[in-house]
Amino acid sequence: MKKYLFLSIASLFLASAAFAADSQIWDAMRIQNIYGYGQVESLGLGPLFTMLQANYFAQIFLAVLIGVPAVFLLHYLVIGPKVFSHDGKKIYAFSIFNRIVHQVAAISFIVLIPTGFIMTFGSYFGGGEFVRMMKDLHGIATISFGIVVIPMFLMWIKDMLPNFDDIKWMMIVGGYLSKEKKPVPAGKFNAGQKSWYWIATLGGMVMILTGATMYFLDFDIEMVRSMTGLSQIDLLRVAAILHAFFGMLVVALFFTHVYMAVFAIKGAIHSIITGYKEEEEVEILHSSWYKKLKKEGKI
Ligand code: HEM
Repeated sequence: MKKYLFLSIASLFLASAAFAADSQIWDAMRIQNIYGYGQVESLGLGPLFTMLQANYFAQIFLAVLIGVPAVFLLHYLVIGPKVFSHDGKKIYAFSIFNRIVHQVAAISFIVLIPTGFIMTFGSYFGGGEFVRMMKDLHGIATISFGIVVIPMFLMWIKDMLPNFDDIKWMMIVGGYLSKEKKPVPAGKFNAGQKSWYWIATLGGMVMILTGATMYFLDFDIEMVRSMTGLSQIDLLRVAAILHAFFGMLVVALFFTHVYMAVFAIKGAIHSIITGYKEEEEVEILHSSWYKKLKKEGKI
């Protein structure tokens, strides 16, 4: 019951944010609400924004797009995947609620990332109708991600708090630099998964807020202006800079997450579809959780 409450609150929050402000966003008012240089007090972010936009954002995105998969290809070829027996006992890890929330987030990202890249490199795609359609799809996928991001944050937060296993895990990079199958110190989630959780949820919320600021670009929200002291145009520039910065981080870790789930640990992807993990995989990769389950007589 509590779970459905989370979902309803998240949906209501989004719907009211979209309709609350009294602004004409679809007609000529759109541009008039954005002040030019010197018209309102400004942080003078214009030159910084233009410099970052011209010299860094697209270049770093391209480097992430090519560099991160290249590193993983090398890892796959040199060290190879971890293969665990799929004939042993199964351990129930993810409830149906966990799986649905996760699947909605996954589908949203599969739309958000390519459409985001197409917008970043819009001129290479000829601009126009096609890129505009991708922009709309990006907006739609933001809504579905927005609905599940708070439930995802709440459902996993207890297991994602840092502990001493995380330091030990980091020191040995989770055992991924070796072919050996030695028990790795980690609870239900390891330090790598925890990092992804925080970036995906808190970073994801920053992406939603900054994305919405840019999408509804003439929403002259008095409250935000008085709280931050930023002019409308400054607010948009800060939003664009943060969206690009967190975007790079989220995309790099998303690629890592998919590599781990689909390639690096053979068959791991089944857990988020069926809810079950292989016993041997838990024993090796989540040894502290395995010991705890044994002690509690759950396996
Ligand atoms: C094609 C896309 C995706 C695939 C194939 C995938 C796969 C998986 C798998 C197999 C697990 C269980 C890992 C384990 O415990 O062994 C998992 C967990 C998780 N997923 Fe995803 N996922 C995808 C997209 C996403 C997205 C978009 C988000 C968030 C926005 C996300 C967030 C998480 C989190 C926070 C966990 C728990 C921590 C972790 O295992 O990393 N996933 N995912």
